[in-house]
Amino acid sequence: MNFIESLRAKAVKAQKTIILPEGCEPRTLKATEIIVRENIAKVILVGNEEKIKAAAKELGVCVCGAQIVDPVKSEHFEELVNAFYELRKAKGVDMEKARTMISDEVYFATMMVKMGYADGLVSGAIHTTGDTIKPALQIIKTKPGIKSVSSTFVMIVPNCDMGSNGMFLFGDCAVNPNPTSEELAENAILTAQTAKSFCDMDPKVAMLSFSTYGSAKHEFVDKVANAVKIVRETAPDLAVDGEIQADAAMVASVGKTKCPSSPIAGQANVLIFPDLQSGNIGYKLVQRLAKAEAVGPFLQGIAKPVNDLSRGCSVDDIVNVVAATAVQAAN
Ligand code: ACO
Repeated sequence: MNFIESLRAKAVKAQKTIILPEGCEPRTLKATEIIVRENIAKVILVGNEEKIKAAAKELGVCVCGAQIVDPVKSEHFEELVNAFYELRKAKGVDMEKARTMISDEVYFATMMVKMGYADGLVSGAIHTTGDTIKPALQIIKTKPGIKSVSSTFVMIVPNCDMGSNGMFLFGDCAVNPNPTSEELAENAILTAQTAKSFCDMDPKVAMLSFSTYGSAKHEFVDKVANAVKIVRETAPDLAVDGEIQADAAMVASVGKTKCPSSPIAGQANVLIFPDLQSGNIGYKLVQRLAKAEAVGPFLQGIAKPVNDLSRGCSVDDIVNVVAATAVQAAN
């Protein structure tokens, strides 16, 4: 069973309820048909019921197994408005603003997760990453002990003998534009945990840079080297190294030349990018040029599972991210 098959099988066992705020979006509707038919999760589609049913009919898909909830007509609307007001009043939200914000599908769906009416949320086929995850950061917040939410992609590279038989975790390619050393370190530790719990991998973490062991001097390099120190102090048993260049991290012969004493050189399967420019560009290059499957991004460190899609996502991507969200909800 490959990673995707095993993810879907775990989701079937978990039987969680996942809310999809983009209820009229064609790929979301097609994905819903598959998710319900294959029993991957229970689905709540958010939006106007007539519009959703008309869109499904036009596409020739059946979403009859999904629950449809229109925010303003929902029995939960007033409760969610009140709870949101209580959560955000210190941030200048009054009742009128709360009502307007909870009428928005993504805010409504995020509050449904917060209040326990759904186990997780998947959005982003039409919303930007910011519009998908900012409500979650404001409402659901981090898990106890976690300061910064970050993300990881599971990258499955065909015909590749690097990483774990071509499987890698890439972090953070979606959330924090310019992380501090502390945030980079937290991302590395969370991504290593995801590698273990989600992918049954033995994580070997490379904190990437354009420098290996001080081969270049720059404040960007210092930021990564500091992050490595923090990871070692916080998670002394984790196999981690850096700052290290991508080739030394992944290719055994280059690793032997540039850093022969490294515990992970030439074997890295968790790649931590120094910022969002490199992370986002890096995952898209591997996805398009190496024809890798990019599953995610999965948010890490958030109190309840919320996951973002790329606006270029396929129907299969949505099914997979919903399956992953259900699995996260069960963990
Ligand atoms: N972890 C935890 N909380 C956070 C984080 C974080 N990483 N970032 C922001 N927050 C919290 C803040 O504390 C704040 O909470 P509060 O309102 O209760 O005080 C709330 O979120 C909003 O904070 P802002 O600073 O107003 O948020 P910002 O405008 O910076 O938005 C966001 C945060 C959406 C994550 C932003 O940094 C962003 O847009 N990142 C880039 C996303 C992106 O475009 N990715 C690339 C595409 S993804 C792809 O291709 C798959």
